Amino acid sequence: MGNNILKGKKGIIFGALDENSIAWKTALKASEEGAEFVLTNAPIALRMGTINQLAEKCNAEVIPADATSVEDLTALFEKSQEILGGKLDFVLHSIGMSPNVRKGKSYGDLNYDWFLKTLDISGLSFHKVLQVAEKTDAMNEWGSILALSYIAAQRSFPDYSDMAQAKAVLESIARSYGYRFAKLKKVRVNTISQSPTMTTAGSGVTGFDVFFDYADKMSPLGNASAGDCANFIITMFSDYTRMVTMQNLMHDGGFSASGITEDLIERLK
Ligand SMILES: NC(=O)c1ccc[n+]([C@@H]2O[C@H](COP(=O)([O-])OP(=O)(O)OC[C@H]3O[C@@H](n4cnc5c(N)ncnc54)[C@H](O)[C@@H]3O)[C@@H](O)[C@H]2O)c1
Repeated sequence: MGNNILKGKKGIIFGALDENSIAWKTALKASEEGAEFVLTNAPIALRMGTINQLAEKCNAEVIPADATSVEDLTALFEKSQEILGGKLDFVLHSIGMSPNVRKGKSYGDLNYDWFLKTLDISGLSFHKVLQVAEKTDAMNEWGSILALSYIAAQRSFPDYSDMAQAKAVLESIARSYGYRFAKLKKVRVNTISQSPTMTTAGSGVTGFDVFFDYADKMSPLGNASAGDCANFIITMFSDYTRMVTMQNLMHDGGFSASGITEDLIERLK
């Protein structure tokens, strides 16, 4: 049982592929907290995934949209407002994909068409979501828009490849559009930089198990799970965080502030 901290709030949740997805856990919690929302994913993901089970549990409608298509996004934002009977209070962009990572390309042998795809799907799509939200006048005042990032935007993690550039773009968009949306409508825009998490997108990175374990040992609180991330997202959608905007918020159990930890020293001895 939740505490109804999202009671009366309406939104769109992108990126629930299966029950491991951060967006999936967020949808369950948002529903528990009294929110009403539309679920969306790329048409191909809707065919492969199990989103209808989630939709049933959350009493939500599913609208397909490729997040790189402004046309799809415009239809999504318009339809969502019709379905929900009003403007939106929150949007979660939980989208990431790199064809170069998926196909195991080394960083010195990237396919540039795929690199552009990585940037479009994982970075630029956030700008498209924000711009369409503005143009369709979809947001209520004091709304909250979030995307999910990773610390490879600031530090090098070799196997993260061109996704590192996409996350840097994503975080920069949150600052620039955060300024704009605050001035226009008092809407806040942030990114959450999440620990490595066992999901389809996460485990696509080579050596993910070792990497997950390393991050866990380097984080005094351990890795933040998808469920923990969902809780944080709910807080960021609530009225308790109205003055937080244009930030990249570290949600990583202390990883980003740790130099070395005793757990890691023990492991390396
Ligand atoms: N798993 C991790 O280790 C980790 C760590 C930090 C940040 N993140 C980020 O969290 C977010 C969610 O990923 P996840 O870990 O829940 O994995 P996931 O694979 O469950 O979710 C990624 C989603 O992106 C969707 N997507 C891909 N291309 C799309 C497109 N063109 N249009 C619309 N949707 C599209 C997929 O269908 C999928 O639902 C991503 O931004 C990811 O980079 C993940």
